[in-house]
Amino acid sequence: MGKGYFITGTDTGVGKTLVAGGLAALCGKRGLDVGVMKPVATGCGYVDGTLVSEDAVFLKNAAGTADEYEIINPIRFEQPLAPTAAARLNNTTIDLAKVHAAYATLHKRHNFLIVEGVGGLLVPLGDRYFVADLIGDMGLPLIVVCRPTLGTINHTLLTIASACERKLKIAGIIINESSVGCNETVKRTNREELARFTGIPVLGDVPFLKGFDMQNVDRGLLANIFSDKIGKNIIM
Ligand SMILES: Nc1ncnc2c1ncn2[C@@H]1O[C@H](COP(=O)(O)OP(=O)(O)OP(=O)(O)O)[C@@H](O)[C@H]1O
Ligand SMILES: [Mg+2]
Repeated sequence: MGKGYFITGTDTGVGKTLVAGGLAALCGKRGLDVGVMKPVATGCGYVDGTLVSEDAVFLKNAAGTADEYEIINPIRFEQPLAPTAAARLNNTTIDLAKVHAAYATLHKRHNFLIVEGVGGLLVPLGDRYFVADLIGDMGLPLIVVCRPTLGTINHTLLTIASACERKLKIAGIIINESSVGCNETVKRTNREELARFTGIPVLGDVPFLKGFDMQNVDRGLLANIFSDKIGKNIIM
């Protein structure tokens, strides 16, 4: 089993990037030599003529690594579509060999890796190859990021069932308040039910961070928040 975590989510937009960046910043605070990766990104924008993923830039800044963007995020598409749909639109396929080679390079360079997935576990990356298969090939334990809101029990249990079916190692669940105003009773009872029905540790809750700006990372602040909310439950 590799050293690090693969951060997946119950859906797109649940806060995988924030959590992956927060954990990378926490690794740095703890003195670990941490590397980050966003293997496949869609919805990328052009910066000085180069296609760049906002997620990859945030992860790189949160970790404070000097790795090349090409390796951190080997596969990029401009269209905000599912990866295989974006690839098809560009008359191409996702070069999985390139993803595995970049991962191997980062694995050699760093003691610990935080990898952010794409959408959820069953997002296809190739014919009969899903994000879940990539996690298996990387050999990293996974962390499931979920919402605190109504509906999260179904989505989280589906994700965990799928991970168990593929014999992936699940390190824990992180409940992230990606939007403001979740009812306190909903939050508390969802947390209790998730722990009860999965038997998997809830590593912590990330609160809604007012004014959080992915383009303006304060690594120290991020590390402190994650140290406070997740730190005592996570093994690094
Ligand atoms: N705890 C939080 N506090 C404030 N804003 C948050 C929080 N979590 C997430 N967000 C915001 O919600 C949006 C979605 O979060 P994020 O990009 O981390 O999700 P994701 O799961 O990585 O999405 P994708 O599938 O597109 O990669 C972002 O704009 C992010 O800044
Ligand atoms: Mg993301």
